[in-house]
Amino acid sequence: MKAVVWHDTGRISLDEVPDPKIQEPEDAVIRITASAICGTDLHMVRGTMPGMRPGTILGHEAVGVVEETGPQVRNFNAGDRVLVCSTIGCGRCVYCRDGYYAQCDVVNPGGTAFFGGPEATGPFDGLQAEYARIPYAHTGLVAVPPGVSDEQALTVSDIFPTAWFGARLAEVGPGDVVVVLGAGPVGQLAVLSARMQGAGRVIIVDGNADRLETARLQNAETVDFNAEDPVAAVKELTGGVGADRVIDAVGVDAEPPSRDREKAGHDLWEPGEAPDQALRWAVEMVAKAGTIGIVGVYPEGFGSFPLGTAMNRNLTVKMGNCNHRRYAPGLLSKVAAGSADPTTILTQQETMPGVLEAYEAFDRREPGWTKVAIELG
Ligand SMILES: NC(=O)c1ccc[n+]([C@@H]2O[C@H](COP(=O)([O-])OP(=O)(O)OC[C@H]3O[C@@H](n4cnc5c(N)ncnc54)[C@H](O)[C@@H]3O)[C@@H](O)[C@H]2O)c1
Ligand SMILES: [Zn+2]
Ligand SMILES: [Zn+2]
Repeated sequence: MKAVVWHDTGRISLDEVPDPKIQEPEDAVIRITASAICGTDLHMVRGTMPGMRPGTILGHEAVGVVEETGPQVRNFNAGDRVLVCSTIGCGRCVYCRDGYYAQCDVVNPGGTAFFGGPEATGPFDGLQAEYARIPYAHTGLVAVPPGVSDEQALTVSDIFPTAWFGARLAEVGPGDVVVVLGAGPVGQLAVLSARMQGAGRVIIVDGNADRLETARLQNAETVDFNAEDPVAAVKELTGGVGADRVIDAVGVDAEPPSRDREKAGHDLWEPGEAPDQALRWAVEMVAKAGTIGIVGVYPEGFGSFPLGTAMNRNLTVKMGNCNHRRYAPGLLSKVAAGSADPTTILTQQETMPGVLEAYEAFDRREPGWTKVAIELG
């Protein structure tokens, strides 16, 4: 089968690889009908999320059809339409039972297990492929209701639950003024999630005009950090108080304002150059005693956080990898009922032969390339 394979930092290719097989009684094999490229994949290709094993298939977002199930997968049969949760949980340890699927003690006692990630996360081959082996399929697969499209379900594989989780971590409540840092796909859906959780106003900060415009279509108030100081702008918009809640949807590839450096623009696979920038702005723009929810990814060993300022302003800071399985069924129901449409952020559809070009356009944040769905049919 064809799959996107990580070989080295800055080097991925579309390779012919062996088809996956059932290995354990709780496995399923699915045929993937749609996959996607995520900002997390970019960290791994740029090298800012280290520890990848060469030969690992990338990708952790997919919708597909069950091909085959192991004997202990009793809730799915061949032919069922499913979405795959990005993180892998066993469904039986105390962490999974408590809803902390991203901290499953069986699949990865040291942290989070997810598809297509670094060695320390499994490693498990990913979902930018024609077929995939799904461990603990009874827990990690979610049935897609009739009437929900592949594109809709694809957003519930990772980015919509992550955005929803980010708003939960930030303790968004009725009337809150919420700032979302980063207008990538996760940030765009964090705007939607914050509103669904009761936010009064949502302000979004990014340096990319095209993505800010997409957010404005959701009525987010936009701040371009290349045009103005985002901390001063948020203070001004909030009568000097700051935001009640801030969601970091940027992570380690954060960029400094281009007015602060000579080189604007973005070379292929270039790390962000200001890894703690979003965290610093979050701590400075949130109100005293406010809350910050961090879903932007920071790798093991990252140690830069403005703790003193956060401490002395009585901030609450929560973070983590999304417990996808906890939120995916509920969000899928909302999509099926028509009360949320996350597909407005899907800007591009590609097929497998075009996947590497799509990666490059997404990495460069070219206009119109906010979120790429890979259709496999
Ligand atoms: N915690 C989780 O479970 C989880 C799941 C999915 C994605 N993520 C992470 O969420 C983050 C966003 O994912 P995405 O797919 O939207 O990525 P993306 O790369 O498409 O988007 C990041 C956005 O941040 C903007 N940005 C860069 N520097 C900034 C700064 N200083 N301030 C504000 N915005 C800035 C970029 O212009 C870009 O639009 C990534 O770090 C990704 O790894 C986490
Ligand atoms: Zn992702
Ligand atoms: Zn578990």
